Amino acid sequence: MKPQRLAQVSRLRQVLDGARQEGRTIGVVPTMGALHEGHLSLVREAKAQCDLAVATIFVNPTQFGPKEDFAKYPRNVERDIDLLETAHADFVFTPSVEEMYPPHDQTRVRVPRLAEGLCGASRPGHFEGVATVVSKFFNAVGPGAYFFGKKDYQQWRVIERMASDLLFPVRVVGCPIVREADGLAMSSRNNYLSEQERAFAPGLAAALRSARARYQAGERNLARLLDHTRAALFGQSDQALKFEVEYVEIRVGATLEVPSVDVDGLLVPGHDELVLLVAARLGATRLIDNLEL
Ligand code: PAJ
Repeated sequence: MKPQRLAQVSRLRQVLDGARQEGRTIGVVPTMGALHEGHLSLVREAKAQCDLAVATIFVNPTQFGPKEDFAKYPRNVERDIDLLETAHADFVFTPSVEEMYPPHDQTRVRVPRLAEGLCGASRPGHFEGVATVVSKFFNAVGPGAYFFGKKDYQQWRVIERMASDLLFPVRVVGCPIVREADGLAMSSRNNYLSEQERAFAPGLAAALRSARARYQAGERNLARLLDHTRAALFGQSDQALKFEVEYVEIRVGATLEVPSVDVDGLLVPGHDELVLLVAARLGATRLIDNLEL
């Protein structure tokens, strides 16, 4: 059955409050559409953990910078709804911009420390836009479990922090990255890649795996691990293509802080999980990926 499509907050609340009164639990998957298997894995997880799955499709203007791809971001709601049906979503919320940002809207949500480095450095205001729209979804869709991909690792951590800090009655769940057969993390933006770039792009994930292998083999020197990752990325260059690296970082997962090292530059044992994160441009397309060490 096709998911029921709703576009108004008032109607959505009515329907979902009814379901909650009948004792049903609700799992929510916020998206910007252009759905792929990564998104659908979140919907299936929501269905596995909850009685009803709600997907939201909204290309959120406030999280795009002035020179970013808001206008050209792929939009195809009918196709997305067909895909949501295959993942057994029950509802899809497709609000207009006016519905999410009423006239004279001005309130914004900021998670300053978690949002400041990594992608926050090159995308000023991006996480403020994300935190704001996700707060609106928490209030519009209501209590439940909300599913986010670790593909956008920093985003997941920002939202987890915000939900906790602002006492939203939600559970934030981080889900594994879904990859293409060649290792490239699925992303709606992969569609922007030329054929040559697409063939080259899995090198990003390969560099992360290579660094993780070093870590697993016992390498604990932080600078050497980062150098190894950069060298692995650079080593992929051919005449025509190369990754323009924006950042390569190892961070403590939960806080995204730089892990402490001893006088020899070795990672101090006993850290919570560490994550290796990278952002790089391939031609005009910005790619991000990460691996938990
Ligand atoms: P969007 O890029 O559409 O992604 C929606 C959700 O799908 C996010 O939680 C993202 O991390 C997850 N996702 C994307 N690719 C994935 C992959 N390969 N494997 C697993 N999960 C993946 O992220 C956003 O939209 C927006 O910022 C949003 C949270 C909806 C706020 O506007």
